[in-house]
Amino acid sequence: MERSLILLKPDCVQRRLIGKIISRFEEKAINIIAMKLIQVTPELAKQHYHEHVEKPFYPGLESFITGAPVVAMVLEGLDVIHVVREMLGATSGLKASPGTIRGDFSSSRQMNLVHASDGADAAAREIGLYFNENEVCSYQPTLTPWLKADDE
Ligand code: CMP
Repeated sequence: MERSLILLKPDCVQRRLIGKIISRFEEKAINIIAMKLIQVTPELAKQHYHEHVEKPFYPGLESFITGAPVVAMVLEGLDVIHVVREMLGATSGLKASPGTIRGDFSSSRQMNLVHASDGADAAAREIGLYFNENEVCSYQPTLTPWLKADDE
């Protein structure tokens, strides 16, 4: 089992798309094991996007991500990091394929609705930025026998 840190970004919250996007993850039978609405501070933004802080687009990215609350979630599932990034589509909503979340709902590179960790190290680091251990509630879904074979 793998875990990934997901943010429903300020554009997602402001556009009232929280429910629709969470439904996509639920319909895929991915487990939500932590979730909260929070206001990202400039300090947290710099920690989260540390690899982008020196890039020309960072000031705009920081004012966007701190401009309204985000919904932070931890998702758990088999290969969930890769699966969720495939569900999101390309970074820019203009390039993301139809059928992906960004392809269906976004027409922007910056306002691309959802962030998802891009690897196992990033996931561990980002989950630690947004959640304490005791806020993560891993559980066995009762539907598991109808979602995958025992040896998957
Ligand atoms: P995200 O997956 O959250 O990771 C970094 C974010 O920076 C990315 O989504 C975009 O919202 C934003 N981003 C990446 N590249 C650019 C760019 N060239 N111009 C503006 N924003 C960008």
